Amino acid sequence: MTSNRSLSLKLKIWRQKNSQEPGRFEGYRVEDISPESSFLEMLDILNDQLIRQNKSSVAFDHDCREGICGMCSLYINGQAHGPDQLVTTCQLYMRRFKNGDTIYIEPWRSRAFPVIKDLVVDRSAFDRVIASGGFVSVNTSGNTIDGNALPIPKEDADKAFDAAACIGCGACVATCKNASAMLFVSAKISQLALLPQGKVEAKRRALAMVRQMDEEGFGNCSNTGACEVECPKGISLENIAQMNREYLSASIQNED
Ligand code: SF4
Ligand code: FES
Repeated sequence: MTSNRSLSLKLKIWRQKNSQEPGRFEGYRVEDISPESSFLEMLDILNDQLIRQNKSSVAFDHDCREGICGMCSLYINGQAHGPDQLVTTCQLYMRRFKNGDTIYIEPWRSRAFPVIKDLVVDRSAFDRVIASGGFVSVNTSGNTIDGNALPIPKEDADKAFDAAACIGCGACVATCKNASAMLFVSAKISQLALLPQGKVEAKRRALAMVRQMDEEGFGNCSNTGACEVECPKGISLENIAQMNREYLSASIQNED
């Protein structure tokens, strides 16, 4: 039986076979959606419906469905991760929408994130940025020092922890009018540069990660701050300032 509170919705979803072919919006209807279901569960219901009709299901990325992995990545009614602040798409609930609403659903759009299919984009550019320097080299022979044995000022530990909250979802890139990846890269650089374990490789890391970011085709930062507003983990623009300091100091010392 249809509950009085259930939602009937029109969906306009971006469908695209692959990165070579042009995509387009296609219209769908879903009925009897519980306001307590998540946005991704609503898409699961749509896909069940499409499969029963022998139609191609909508491809979308997801994994943990609890705001941790960074896989979910939808542009919903013109906003990365939808209308709520500080949540990922998987944490968005249908109670945020009204019966009869039309919802536009698109993939992240950036030259560095080509569409693989429908709503799924290739974010391996982020992996390559991390591989270029987003790590610390440690002895894993079994003689490692307990991280807690190193005294770290509380303020530095807090800032590093806040930067480490970045889940690599790419909403910052999708939101930025220049498709800049500065918020993501700066979070990864800051998280390590602020801690003693990360200081050893800090110069090489800043130079390598910024170089890789540029090679991947991300745009420049023009300080509009949209990335910070749409970031589901509240990553601060202060990290970009930290990254610029790290990069400048590494560049000057490189010239010595
Ligand atoms: S900085 Fe925020 S928006 Fe960008 S990848 Fe990290 S968590 Fe996602
Ligand atoms: S599915 Fe993991 S953060 Fe959304």
